Amino acid sequence: MKKKRSWAEPYKIKMVEHIALPDYEQRLKYIEEAAYNTFLLRSKDVYIDLLTDSGTSAMSDRQWARLMIGDEAYAGSKDFYQLEETVRQYYGYSYVVPTHQGRAAEHIISKILIKAGDFVPGNMYFTTTRLHQELAGGTFVDVIVDQAHDPDSDYPFKGNVDLQKLESLILEQGADHIPYFSIATTVNMAGGQPISLANLRAVRALSRKYGIPIVHDMTRVAENAYMIQQQEPGYAHKSIAEIVREICDLTDAATMSAKKDPLVNIGGFLALNDADLFEEARNLVVVYEGLHTYGGMAGRDMGALAVGIEESVSDEHMKARVGQVQYLGNQLLSAGIPIVKPIGTHGVFLNAARFLPHVPQDHFPAQALAAELYVDSAVRAMERGIVSAGRNKQTGEHNYPKLELVRLTIPRRVYTQSHMDVVAESVERVYDNRDRILGLTMTFEPRYLRFFQARFEKIRAEANAQRSARKREPVAN
Ligand code: F0G
Repeated sequence: MKKKRSWAEPYKIKMVEHIALPDYEQRLKYIEEAAYNTFLLRSKDVYIDLLTDSGTSAMSDRQWARLMIGDEAYAGSKDFYQLEETVRQYYGYSYVVPTHQGRAAEHIISKILIKAGDFVPGNMYFTTTRLHQELAGGTFVDVIVDQAHDPDSDYPFKGNVDLQKLESLILEQGADHIPYFSIATTVNMAGGQPISLANLRAVRALSRKYGIPIVHDMTRVAENAYMIQQQEPGYAHKSIAEIVREICDLTDAATMSAKKDPLVNIGGFLALNDADLFEEARNLVVVYEGLHTYGGMAGRDMGALAVGIEESVSDEHMKARVGQVQYLGNQLLSAGIPIVKPIGTHGVFLNAARFLPHVPQDHFPAQALAAELYVDSAVRAMERGIVSAGRNKQTGEHNYPKLELVRLTIPRRVYTQSHMDVVAESVERVYDNRDRILGLTMTFEPRYLRFFQARFEKIRAEANAQRSARKREPVAN
């Protein structure tokens, strides 16, 4: 009989950071003080922090070493040139404009390309990306495949574009009103789902046919490449580095939040192939970010980013990274917990609509569930549902997304398998007691990206009972 051969992470731990579990009474107090918004908790009060995979990675010894030899010149830092060379080598884009993080790159490209009244089609919205498109006068149009909105569909490429939806929009609005296609690898709001290369090539064909460029949100491009390697016919023998390059070569420009894939705690860039656009972007970056050779980053951060890009496309690294997410996802699936399928690359997404079917969507079930999970175990997750979806720009009503999710986001190279076990057990406990969980009311709502700072109160059992009784009363005509 063949003996089992396990695999393990391709690194060992050189430095540790202590974490502590506050007791139950403290957890109740902290979540109330945070107004049931996990963004408003203090991280010292969190045991396992799965709020985000953004800027939360553990850097390698090589990255830390690079920090020590950073060139902090205001202009022309050697670390900028190293970053530029690395972006050209691994991603293939000709020009690089550094920014302090992803949304700054989104701001600049939206300002340059979008005119008032334009439409920007994309494979599902991302919060900051859509906001910058709207602030520039555009309207985002979701052209992702329908399966992406169905948490139970196990279609392997839920990040794909529905080509018919895309072409209909072009024919309806005219190519002149579509400045670019906004294409993300992987799709965060769908649950960390990849787009296939076959689909991206078809999108490219439409982009050529109508003369509309593709702007690539490449925040998690290496994770997407890993899923292509694992699942798309013809790619099993290609390296992640080769697949990443093939993806980027099908697009014209890219925004990068380097806080994800490239393993740094802060940073980003806008990458371009068009020399004229580059000139404009270089001009705008000095207004909003800093000189075009640092754009809001310290020299040492650009150096660590260059090393992080190289490490992020390693096959061994990505197998461990996505493998850990899948480990947690499979634990939850075998316990019968409703999660988004297939398991994504950067986190496991709980389906709050099925977890709490008794909580109506305008009582913020995912927000309530994330708060409850914190109370159970001081594990911090994040709402990705009606609160994140914001309000309709025209009507001012809540957007009601089909996906009402809680994201358990896994930082890269930070937690161990035992941490994943603790998380899975806590989710199971909360699931066993799910009938007790009631919704929330929003008591403070910021104008932009409300999920970051909104405040909530618990709906009391008596209030809820009154509400249900009212609902059952016959309506007088
Ligand atoms: N695009 C995607 C797909 C993202 O996930 C993010 C950030 C951004 C753009 C913006 O980048 O934060 O560097 O300005 N996502 C974080 C998250 C915030 O938690 O998912 P940023």
